[in-house]
Amino acid sequence: MSVYRRFAAVYDLMGADHHSVRMVAYTRKLMRRFKIEATAGLDLCCGTGSAIAGLLECGLTMAGLDRSAEMLAVAAKKLRGRHVTLYQKSLPRFRLLDSQNSRRLRRFDIVTSFYDSLNYLSDERELRAAFDSVYRHLRPGGWFIFDMNTARALKMLWSQDVYADVRSDLAWVWKNTYYDKTRSADCHATFFVKKGCTWQRFDELHTEYAYDNSTVRRLLKDAGFQVKGFYRCFTFDRPAGRTCRICGVVRRPPTRRHAEQVE
Ligand SMILES: C[S@@+](CC[C@H](N)C(=O)[O-])C[C@H]1O[C@@H](n2cnc3c(N)ncnc32)[C@H](O)[C@@H]1O
Repeated sequence: MSVYRRFAAVYDLMGADHHSVRMVAYTRKLMRRFKIEATAGLDLCCGTGSAIAGLLECGLTMAGLDRSAEMLAVAAKKLRGRHVTLYQKSLPRFRLLDSQNSRRLRRFDIVTSFYDSLNYLSDERELRAAFDSVYRHLRPGGWFIFDMNTARALKMLWSQDVYADVRSDLAWVWKNTYYDKTRSADCHATFFVKKGCTWQRFDELHTEYAYDNSTVRRLLKDAGFQVKGFYRCFTFDRPAGRTCRICGVVRRPPTRRHAEQVE
């Protein structure tokens, strides 16, 4: 079952874009805290483009990447008239080429990835490959800021729970199950959208994967990043046992360890 297809049309209506608004405000605080000076940004798994819209307001030049054509179509509509390049690509391995020199990768000062996006990667090898791709697309000294569900969030919030809501023309029921063996959680999402006098139903199955904080930090370091901040998301506190969402602030070291050529 493909994900983020018909969901794309209702994502913002459900208020799922609100997370981006919060993350952009938090990212601005993080940029001040770490004195991050950036002009070119890439939002990974940009979804409907709300974070891109917010980061443009901060004066950044933005690009976005997502694998869902439907989510990108919503983003393109939202960002119409703005100079934003949207790429339909999939993590973990991606290559964005420099438009001036197609032998080079496009490089950014800052890469972001918000919400549960990185939890869709199904094992450590994929997560590490995604971190490698981010590293290669950062200029030396560039920054990567992301948030993720913790293992606890998937175990506690996605464990045999049902979330549902009803609006005048939209309703949804999400049934979640956590599987210890695979450290993954399934969300069976059913949506009902009112069209005229009838309701149309569609279903999507979303699977997210749990990573321990220590694993995320190790994979980041193995990819060459310096971990500058690792927080309980939206705070500057260290994650605790009950933390459900972490935010990482990591930096590609400001030296030229790798050739500028396409790697
Ligand atoms: C929870 S949404 C988050 C969207 C956006 N970042 C936000 O904060 O609203 C997850 C997004 O990740 C994208 N995604 C999931 N797995 C992906 C992959 N392997 N490669 C690229 N995009 C992916 C989905 O298409 C979806 O748009």
